Amino acid sequence: MRLTVGLVSLGLLAACDTGTEQRDAVASTRTVQRPYWPVPPGAIARGTAAQQAALAPPGPQVTPQLVATGEERFRAFCTPCHGVGGRGDGAVVSRGFPPPPSYHDERLRALSPEQIVQVITHGKGRMFPYADRVLPEERWAIAHYVKRLQGQETGSPQGQETEGP
Ligand code: HEC
Repeated sequence: MRLTVGLVSLGLLAACDTGTEQRDAVASTRTVQRPYWPVPPGAIARGTAAQQAALAPPGPQVTPQLVATGEERFRAFCTPCHGVGGRGDGAVVSRGFPPPPSYHDERLRALSPEQIVQVITHGKGRMFPYADRVLPEERWAIAHYVKRLQGQETGSPQGQETEGP
């Protein structure tokens, strides 16, 4: 009888030891380990179609409201590098970040709102993408505000798109 009890407690001890070893193997006991499910090939994230529709040119109607939203978003997301006037002299640049080109350069003045939306979505060169922080409609708003900064109107006061055929 005593022998049986001894064997059982030995077994329990052994079980405890195994548990300790396993816990040592993970970095933190607070980490919740979830199985990794690979994304099946060809999978499309929910809302992709709606997002692509929102990004398709010519984008939303250019209204004073849209441009005002653009200004507000531009100041939040873009001025740290591009500067309030878009001259590539934002605060981050004075800390050693490579300066972006001025929006008033010939080449950047020629960018269409659509191309600016592309830059916000995908990034460009040293500029990283802002797709995870700026909604598609806001990207259009910012793009039209940038055109305003460049002194180029992209919509009539009635909110009609006047650019292009
Ligand atoms: C962290 C700094 C940083 C922020 C924030 C930033 N940019 Fe840029 N941007 C850059 C740099 C650097 C370049 C130059 C990229 C290159 O050519 O390598 C650039 C280039 C550009 C260009 C020119 C692309 C071209 O064709 O040469 C546009 C347009 C632009 N940014 C728009 C924006 C807008 C709109 C925002 C806000 C949503 C923004 N950027 C936020 C750093 C930034």
